[in-house]
Amino acid sequence: MQIAIDGPAGAGKSTAAKALAREMGYLYLDTGAMYRAATLAALKAQTDLSDPEAIAKEVARHSVDFNPEGHVTLDGVDVEDEIRTSRCARHTSDVAPVPKVRERLTEQMRAIAADRDIVMDGRDIGSVVLPGADYKFFITATPEERARRRLLEMEKKGTLEGKSFKEIYEEIVQRDKNDSERETAPLIKTDDALEIVTDNLSPDRVVMTMRDVIGE
Ligand code: DC
Repeated sequence: MQIAIDGPAGAGKSTAAKALAREMGYLYLDTGAMYRAATLAALKAQTDLSDPEAIAKEVARHSVDFNPEGHVTLDGVDVEDEIRTSRCARHTSDVAPVPKVRERLTEQMRAIAADRDIVMDGRDIGSVVLPGADYKFFITATPEERARRRLLEMEKKGTLEGKSFKEIYEEIVQRDKNDSERETAPLIKTDDALEIVTDNLSPDRVVMTMRDVIGE
C-alpha cells in the first residue's frame, strides 16, 4: 500500500504523514529531507549554486539514505539536525529544481517504496514519484495561517531573531512560488488527490480525515 501526501511547506503535512504512518504501522519517508541532504552536500563542497551542472555533479558523488531510526544520512552520516538550518532550507530552492538531482532522488524514493507499505510526503509524490499510489492527499493551508504557525514555532524554539510576521509571510509566499512555478516536478494537486485544508483543523483531525478515507 502506497500513500502519497503532497502540499506546500508549513501546512502540517509531515506531522500528519508521520502520525498516519505510525498508526498504520507503515514506513514514513520524508522526501524533503532527501533534497535538504543533497543541498547540504553541495553547500559543504562550496558548489556554485547558480550552476545546475555543478550541483548535479556534486550530488552524484554522494549517497543520501535513511538509517534504521528513520534519520536522513549523507554518505552514511546522520545529518537530520544539520539539514534543518535555515541556510540549508533556503538553498534547497537552488538544488531541488535541478532535473538530474530529481531523477536520482526520485529513483531512490521508488526503490525504497517498492516492497513496502509506505507513507511518503513531499511536493511531487502523487504526480511524479508514485503516480499509481493507492491514496493521494494534498494537505494545504492559507499562507497567513502557515506564517502564523511558523512564527509561533520560531518563538518557541527561540529562533525568531526579530523577524516580523510580514517577513515570514513573504518567505512562505516566495517558497510557494518557487515550488509551484519550477519546470521540473512542480508542486501541484493532482485530480485524484483529496485536498485537506488544515487552517481550522487540529493535527489529530487531519489524521482522522485521512484514516476515514482509507478505511472506506
Ligand atoms: O518539505 P521540506 O520543507 O523539508 O522540503 C525541502 C525542500 O525540498 C523544499 O524546497 C521543497 C523541496 N522538495 C521537493 O522539491 N520535492 C519533494 N518531493 C520534497 C521536497
